[in-house]
Amino acid sequence: MRLAVFASGGGSNFQSIVEATNSGLLSAEVVLCVSNRSDAGVLTRAEAEGIESLILDPSDFDDKELYETVLLEQLASRDVDFIALAGYMKMIPAGVVRAFSGRMLNIHPALLPAYGGPGMYGKRVHGAVLAAGESISGATVHLVDEEYDTGPIVLQESVPVLPTDTPETLAARVLLVEHELFPKALALFAEQQITVDGRTVTIL
Ligand code: GRF
Repeated sequence: MRLAVFASGGGSNFQSIVEATNSGLLSAEVVLCVSNRSDAGVLTRAEAEGIESLILDPSDFDDKELYETVLLEQLASRDVDFIALAGYMKMIPAGVVRAFSGRMLNIHPALLPAYGGPGMYGKRVHGAVLAAGESISGATVHLVDEEYDTGPIVLQESVPVLPTDTPETLAARVLLVEHELFPKALALFAEQQITVDGRTVTIL
């Protein structure tokens, strides 16, 4: 598996994926880190790991088809065959979603289908979970389709929500689970222990 990890932020999920490849938990090579922000913390992590980075901001392209073409070319030129969206805050162009159908995963910091969709990202997710008085939350890894957070679910893990939680404390608890869950989900694909037929995911 030749993996591209897309991230817009600090990149702790990027780090956990790279560490899983280094420890042998995940039989994959992270060949590219893609970010839309030149100040993203993930870029420092990629440099420290000796992993190539590519900064590509869709907002810089007036021509959205050109953006899609450039992104596809960049991925193809490095023989990327799988994509992990690890805190990536931009929509992936439809042509790229189609080209990587069944080969692109996203991580979301809640138990989808609850608390997902447009506008549900970062602290907003955890704020909404707390405002609703939920007693559990968690993380979801799902395949990416052309909508936000609606693709078939691969793995989920729950965490308790404590009465004293703030969005920050809940985010930190969920993030720890994300660091285990994302490499585990990627490993299912790397080891071909999973089949996807339409929206039906079967773990073998
Ligand atoms: C994670 O909680 C991820 O689920 C969300 O953004 C956060 C990214 O954290 N979409 P990091 O950049 O991997 O540290």
